[in-house]
Amino acid sequence: FHADWDAEMVEKQGYEHFMLKEIHEQPTVARRFLSDRLKQEEVKMPELEEIWQEDFEKVMITACGTAYYSGQVGRHIIEELARLPVDVEIASELRYKQNFIDEDTLVIVVSQSGETADTLAALEVAQKKGAKILALTNTASSSIARQSDAVVDIMAGPEIAVASTKAYLAMLLGFYLLGLKLAELRGTLSQSELSDYRREILKLPDRIESTLHRTEPQCQKLAETIVDYDSIFFIGRNLDYSLALEGALKLKEISYIHAESYPAGELKHGTLALVEEGVPVFALMTRGKLARKTLSNVEEVKARGGRVIAVASSQLMEERAEDEFYELIKLPVSNELWAGVIAVIPLQLTAYYAAKELDCSIDKPRNLAKSVTVE
Ligand code: G6P
Repeated sequence: FHADWDAEMVEKQGYEHFMLKEIHEQPTVARRFLSDRLKQEEVKMPELEEIWQEDFEKVMITACGTAYYSGQVGRHIIEELARLPVDVEIASELRYKQNFIDEDTLVIVVSQSGETADTLAALEVAQKKGAKILALTNTASSSIARQSDAVVDIMAGPEIAVASTKAYLAMLLGFYLLGLKLAELRGTLSQSELSDYRREILKLPDRIESTLHRTEPQCQKLAETIVDYDSIFFIGRNLDYSLALEGALKLKEISYIHAESYPAGELKHGTLALVEEGVPVFALMTRGKLARKTLSNVEEVKARGGRVIAVASSQLMEERAEDEFYELIKLPVSNELWAGVIAVIPLQLTAYYAAKELDCSIDKPRNLAKSVTVE
């Protein structure tokens, strides 16, 4: 066997960038994490069970960057499944603000590297208040892991590209399982509901894989048509808004295109003023009831000449014609609570191909670092 590959290309396994390799590793990451933690009959989360207190009254999630955005998704998951109120705070804000963390608060600290200085400082603030700390991290030997009361290793494997992809996906899976375990411990879901949810989660790796293959050519073509715009917007409601935040971050991190995300209902309170002929607007629609609401915002965008890129669950788009949108990216049917790990795939791919089209330094974007160990 002979190949003209240098050492770096071998590490990249033939992919042009680590980011693309890591995007493609996501089905494997999901399979590995879920096969370790999830059986048809149970969620294995002994770390949570060990620190579990009947009197936990609330959850506080804290993190930076992409990890913070995973926490935004985690909030909806935990609130809906376990019926516990959840706050999500950016670590660099939490450490300096008035907080209401106490002994009855479960604090979830999320960090790929486990070394982010602000996240570690927020952890210490929470610890001083007597809260129990659970770390959701990709680095089980890190400072954050060492200082926490419990550590859930998301097992995404080494992530080299500065822009996080597979670790984000693994964080979401971590929140799904934490949400289910919390629901079980609090008795907020029946046994049959729990097993339905588990069964659906086990289908996710295949769906992630098929979405990757099906949407990659579409995202590549789409990316080529959006790179000429100065600003790109992302809208969604509820979980879809949380995903929109990560979609906008991916795009700006690596393509340097100004990207912002808004709760779709906020559009008419300001952002709509920026929508003019041709401006790309990604509309995320994975939640049944709310998709209809977001579709009315889509109409507002279209009326102003904006180009709507719908990223939507296929069953919600059954009655829609493809040409209603500038582009329609259809996602496979899934329980809507778990749609995040599927919907994020085309957002990652579009960001990647946009940055490639613009010839950006994809794995090492300007001014950014993989791990920020100073304040
Ligand atoms: C840096 C990285 C981001 C990451 C953030 C938090 O800004 O560039 O990709 O999301 O730090 O990192 P952590 O390791 O704590 O998840």
